[in-house]
Amino acid sequence: MGLFESRCGLSRLYRQEIIQSTMPTETIPRISKRTLDQLPVQGKKVLVRVDYNVPLSPEGKVTDDTRVRETLPTLEYLLNKGAAVILCAHLGRPKGKPVAQYSLKPAAACLESLIHKSIQMAPDCVGPAVQAIAKNLKPGQILLLENLRFHPEEEANDSAFAKSLASLADYFVQDAFGAVHRAHASTTGVPELLPSAAGLLLAKEIYFLSHAIQNPQRPFVAILGGAKVSDKIEVIESLIEKVDTLLVGGAMAYTFAKAQGISVGKSRVENDKIDLALSLLEKAKKRGIQFLLPIDRVIVQNVDPNAKAEITPSTTIPEGWEGVDIGPKTVQLFQKQLLNAKTIVWNGPMGIFEMPAFAKGTFAIAEFVAEATKKGATTIVGGGDSVAAVKQAGLGNQLSHVSTGGGASLEYLEGKDLPGIAALPNV
Ligand code: 3PG
Repeated sequence: MGLFESRCGLSRLYRQEIIQSTMPTETIPRISKRTLDQLPVQGKKVLVRVDYNVPLSPEGKVTDDTRVRETLPTLEYLLNKGAAVILCAHLGRPKGKPVAQYSLKPAAACLESLIHKSIQMAPDCVGPAVQAIAKNLKPGQILLLENLRFHPEEEANDSAFAKSLASLADYFVQDAFGAVHRAHASTTGVPELLPSAAGLLLAKEIYFLSHAIQNPQRPFVAILGGAKVSDKIEVIESLIEKVDTLLVGGAMAYTFAKAQGISVGKSRVENDKIDLALSLLEKAKKRGIQFLLPIDRVIVQNVDPNAKAEITPSTTIPEGWEGVDIGPKTVQLFQKQLLNAKTIVWNGPMGIFEMPAFAKGTFAIAEFVAEATKKGATTIVGGGDSVAAVKQAGLGNQLSHVSTGGGASLEYLEGKDLPGIAALPNV
C-alpha cells in the first residue's frame, strides 16, 4: 500500500512536471505557421510586433485595453522562457512624421498596469539611441519602441528600415493580427530578415478563423451587417461558397431589398450596387443556401436619438421614412437560425446601435450568439462595430472568439492571403 501510494505520488508529481513544462505548447493552437514555442528564445532578444492601435481619451488614456490585454499570453510566455522583449507597434495614421497625439506612451502605461512590470519606452523605433537601449535590455525586461508610423519607411516597407528594426533582436514574433493585412516593414520586411514565428494571439486568431472557413461544423451561419454592400462584397462572395445560411441586416440590407423591387423609403441605398446585390442573391440561390433579409424594420422620419420610431410590419418602408434597425419578427427569424447553428461568424451591426433606441436588434443578435456558444457552437465575431456591440452588451467573454482585427478579420474571411501571415514560415 505504502509503495503504491508513493508510486502514485511520484507519478502524480511526474505528471504535474510534464504538464507544467509542456502546458504552454499544449495551449498553443496548431496552425500551419511556425509558432513562438519553436524558437529557442532563452537569453535572446525577441522583437514582437503587436497591434496597440488602441482608442484614446482626449486626456490620452487607453479607453479599451483589449488589444493590449490580448498580447499578455505571448509576452508572459517569452518572459518566462528567459527572453528580453522588444515591442513594436503603430498607433493611428501619423503619415510618416512624429505626432505627439500618436505616441505609444499611453499604451506603455496600459501594459505596465496589466502586466505589473515596468515597461521601458524608447524615444523612437530606430536609430543609435534605440540601438543602445535595446543592447542593454536584459532577459525578463520589456522595451516598447515608439510608433513605427512616425517613419514613412514603415508603410513603404523600406528594406533599410526593416533592417534597422531587425538589427535590434535575434528573433521576430508576429502577434499583431490587426495589422497583418498590411504589407509594411514590420509585418513583411522584418520576417524576411529574422527567424520568425506567430505569437499566441495571432495563432489563436488564425486557428478560429481558418477552422470556420475551412472545416466548419454545420449548420454554418454567417451574419453580416454594416452600412455598405460595397464594403462587404468580397466577404459575401466568399461566404456564399461556404455557409448554409447568410443573415443580412444593417443598412446594406436596404440595397438588397431595393434590388428585389421593395420600396425602402429614404433608407440608405447604394444605387450603383443594385445589380451586384441581385447577382449575389442569384449566386446564393444557385448554391442552394438560405439568404435571409429582414422581414420587418424599425423606421424613423429623421435619424435622431430621440426620434419617434415605428415598426413596419413588412419589408416595405413608406416614403419619407428610413430604416434604423431590424424589427422583432426579423429578430425571431434570425434567432431560430442562430440557435440551430454549430458555427457562427458575425461581422457588422444590424442597425444604428450607437443610438440606444436603435440598438435592440444588434444586442439581440449578440445574446443569441452567446446562447449558441453555450449550446456548443463555435462563434466568432470580427469587425470594429460588431465587436464593440458585443462588448457593450457585456458578452465579450461569452463567445468562442472575439477577433482583435477589423480590416484583417474581414480580409481573412474574404479568403485573401494576408501578407503578414504569408511572410511567416510554414511548418
Ligand atoms: C486596425 O486598427 O484595424 C489596425 O491596427 C490597422 O490599422 P490601419 O487600418 O491604420 O492600418
